[in-house]
Amino acid sequence: MYYGGDYNPEQWPESVWDDDIRLMRAAGVNLVSLGVFAWARIQRAEGEFDFGWLDRILDKLHAGGIGVNLATATASPPPWASRAYPEILPKDASGATYWHGSRQAYAPTSPVYRRLAAELAGAIAERYACHPAVVMWHVNNEYGCHVHADYSDNAAVAFRAWLRGRYGDIEALNDAWGTAFWSQRYGDFEEVVPPRLTPSSVNPSGLLDFKRFTSDALLDLYRMEKSIIRAAGGAQPVTTNFIGAFEPIDYRSWAADLDLVADDSYPDPADAESFREAAFDRDLMRSLKPGVPWVLMEQAPDAVNWRASNSPKAPGQMAALSVQAVARGADGVMFFQWRQSRSGSEKFHSAMVPHAGTGTRTWREIVELGRNLAGLPRLSAEVDAPVALIYDWQNRWAVENSDHPVRFDYLAVVRQWHAAIHRQHVTADIRHPDDDLSKYAVVIAPQLYLLTDASAANVAAYVAGGGTLLLSAFSDVVDEHDRFAAGGFTTRLGATLGLRVRDFGALPLDAHDRTTVTVSLGDASMTGRLFAEELDLIDATVIGHFRDGRLQGHPAFTSRTNGSGTAYYLATIPDEDGMRAVTARIFAGAGVRPPVDRLPQHVEAVVRDGRLFVINHSGQPFTPPSSFGRRPEAASEAGDTIGAYGWRVFGRAAS
Ligand code: GLA
Repeated sequence: MYYGGDYNPEQWPESVWDDDIRLMRAAGVNLVSLGVFAWARIQRAEGEFDFGWLDRILDKLHAGGIGVNLATATASPPPWASRAYPEILPKDASGATYWHGSRQAYAPTSPVYRRLAAELAGAIAERYACHPAVVMWHVNNEYGCHVHADYSDNAAVAFRAWLRGRYGDIEALNDAWGTAFWSQRYGDFEEVVPPRLTPSSVNPSGLLDFKRFTSDALLDLYRMEKSIIRAAGGAQPVTTNFIGAFEPIDYRSWAADLDLVADDSYPDPADAESFREAAFDRDLMRSLKPGVPWVLMEQAPDAVNWRASNSPKAPGQMAALSVQAVARGADGVMFFQWRQSRSGSEKFHSAMVPHAGTGTRTWREIVELGRNLAGLPRLSAEVDAPVALIYDWQNRWAVENSDHPVRFDYLAVVRQWHAAIHRQHVTADIRHPDDDLSKYAVVIAPQLYLLTDASAANVAAYVAGGGTLLLSAFSDVVDEHDRFAAGGFTTRLGATLGLRVRDFGALPLDAHDRTTVTVSLGDASMTGRLFAEELDLIDATVIGHFRDGRLQGHPAFTSRTNGSGTAYYLATIPDEDGMRAVTARIFAGAGVRPPVDRLPQHVEAVVRDGRLFVINHSGQPFTPPSSFGRRPEAASEAGDTIGAYGWRVFGRAAS
């Protein structure tokens, strides 16, 4: 179990370093991410490297028994670089430049930035590939975090090359993008520009490709650095830190290039429900690389400093969120950062060693968590998850394009489904429609708007093979180019569902997206939002009707049996209570149960490697009704009661 955080010794006089290492040992720290923003310190000018300080701190850390996750330090070029080569700076869609003086001011496709980054990464890798302290490589930092997309001339050149690779000839692009509309036909790839500021909405298929290109361009940069590390003889695992369900990057397409997945996670401690959002991110990270434990690379020991108001964590809350990550597949709990900065943009951001020193609650909790994590049994990566929830970045990009029947936040809806499942104490993996779904008792697929033929065939085969699928409104609408299929909607999954969608029936948006429709569900009812679709039934069974609105009396919720499998279709997007009611009904039919019963809402229960993790994410103490027939193996505190933000790990169930 890795334990530690970002360590930035370049911000401190060397006289502090011995104290750092003494305190790290006291806290049980065994890994630090070193040098993430040290480019300007390592390289004072082009060609001038100063590694003396890095040699000294690496040797000290090694002597102290602390491993290093060594950064390639390429995340923020120093001012000398953009002064000498202004073409490395990225631009926004209106052509404005992102200047140095903050961080991440580089265009990923700039040949000069890439050369400078390669020289830096190469010099670091050659010097330290065999250093015994180095156990992992941290490439760059949170790719795209601030610059979600670059629209510079460098980006334009690279985008055209990417399009040439994808389409071969310009007529294939014209066909894919539907450029016959609005006089957009291109005669040559050289005429294509990134989707910069335009008078009206930009071509949606082109925008989708630009998002794919942006994700691929950053991946290409990561690959460049990883190959430099390998060429220098660095055989340690290589990773970079993800940011949960971060919109600009399709992390699924990156996962194979990371030796292990690493995530940065900053749920708002003031939001009593943010632990559910964190659970979604943890499930997503686990699912990106099934069977390989991931690492929580950054979280805040206490408050962050970049929200409008930055609440401290409640006593124990930091540990509860850390143990949640472990329960959901993490083999490392790390923080930003080790020692609180005295100056700069993040001086108010909490740290493992607070500015107020070691007489603080934060420090005590850091030491206690280090001890508790070290006492956990060794765990396999196996987390029990009977349900798959579908999340697909490319679908998200397409759903959130403009000019649709109704605008909505795809991720928010997916998270609501996850929260509805989470409230029932059921664990879900987060999967893609192309993944092997056969092991899941239930697959929930919210708005599969963009669907390739291959994905559709995979989902249909899952149902035909005995699976239970729930698909909701705005699904099977376009192909990978964001084009309608010939012959209407639901053309690929219609046979599995036993219906075709005739019209999407957008519901008007009021200030809170709350214009709703009522759907009958047995004797009860639920509330639908955003869509009230008109369906043409073929051979589906109706299990719920619209009770009001334009489609009163029409089918809203259907099912169709396919051999031993069942496909449900919901012609609206329920609110969270509705999601819960629908999933509870489907889970009951498919035999999906939580690992233990009768837990309160704010207590989560997850089984990893056969062990039951029970975590209380509220200020209300909770006494489990029993020991669940299991022996307690580790806990935040002794006694029968799991106190506020307490947790307990129970051993394997007696078989
Ligand atoms: C991100 C970055 C860190 C730091 C933290 C806290 O995760 O990677 O460098 O800025 O946020 O704000």
